[in-house]
Amino acid sequence: MTMLREIAQLGAKVLRQKAEAVDDVCAVEIQQIIEDMLGTLSSTQGVGLAAPQIGESKRIVVVASRPTPRYPFASLMEPTVMINPTFQALAETQEKDWEGCLSIPGIRALVPRYQEILIQYTDQQGALMESKLSGFVARIFQHEFDHLEGRLYLDRVENNEDIFAESEYIKLVDGMLNTISNE
Ligand code: NI
Repeated sequence: MTMLREIAQLGAKVLRQKAEAVDDVCAVEIQQIIEDMLGTLSSTQGVGLAAPQIGESKRIVVVASRPTPRYPFASLMEPTVMINPTFQALAETQEKDWEGCLSIPGIRALVPRYQEILIQYTDQQGALMESKLSGFVARIFQHEFDHLEGRLYLDRVENNEDIFAESEYIKLVDGMLNTISNE
């Protein structure tokens, strides 16, 4: 049975710990954590979730890009479970774009990330997977990967002026949407 889990908030110790690798993907405990992560994420407007955010210090993330009021420009993909993920940048350049985090409500900030990455992970059935990610999905992955290292996106903000209250960010996004619809 899926349990909707409480999301750890900024300041919680579990968000600052390096998460443990998963040895046995098929273990009942691991499959339960995955099920709870998928259920918990779908009950929010989030586009990704890492196991430490539900209080489980394990190397599991879900990447689930979809357009929501929080991220109106996000592409649509099936929620993808990634266990013991790793990545390498395919190009040196980083680009800044907006991020938020379910563990840091009410805040948005501009964060530099690699635009193209090659990732490897084990899927929910235990198969080793490899794929190339770019743009916003690559951004989500790097954000979730950081959670496994005990790092939060605010740690990567280059300038305090890049940190916005959500209400101000929404005004900015509404402005961009109006500009597009008027073109
Ligand atoms: Ni987050």
